[in-house]
Amino acid sequence: MAILKIARMGHPVLSRPAAPVEDPRAPAIRQLVADMIETMEDAPGTGLAAPQVHVPLRLVIFKVEGARAGREDGSGAEGAGNGAVPLTVLINPEIEPLGEDQALGWEACLSVPELAGEVPRYTAIRYRGLDPEGRTVEREARGFHARVVQHECDHLDGILYPQRMLDLKKLVFASELRHLGAAEAAD
Ligand code: NI
Repeated sequence: MAILKIARMGHPVLSRPAAPVEDPRAPAIRQLVADMIETMEDAPGTGLAAPQVHVPLRLVIFKVEGARAGREDGSGAEGAGNGAVPLTVLINPEIEPLGEDQALGWEACLSVPELAGEVPRYTAIRYRGLDPEGRTVEREARGFHARVVQHECDHLDGILYPQRMLDLKKLVFASELRHLGAAEAAD
């Protein structure tokens, strides 16, 4: 295993669409997943997409801890999908919004270090993809869980969260978030 170098905003790998993974069970993918997990835990971060480690493939990992999963991020969403989410590997993911409701919430990104921004996201989604065994993963997610998945999957389309923002006054240093009444940002 290895801790991988994280690409930062401005590197072209972060602004190009990533290619589908042809064989989720390939040894190279297994190695990539192991290295991404180690990199995410070292950072630490809530999620990581393969383009962030300079690999332009459609693969993301994320993990939502219970305390954060319960946060609503202003969405008012509740119910299924708001519990802790175990470490999840999603290969070739697809997202479908469940309804049109969006909410603003604070996000951060390992590729945009030290900053945080207020970003609109769908409050409820269904997502599906493959796990490293090639099995289908399909879940419904709300609130913080839904936000994390949308953020990570945006990386696969070459989108960083500032590009989703509606008000750049809400792009701030994470260390100043306390002035805005925000606890912490999703990263
Ligand atoms: Ni990110």
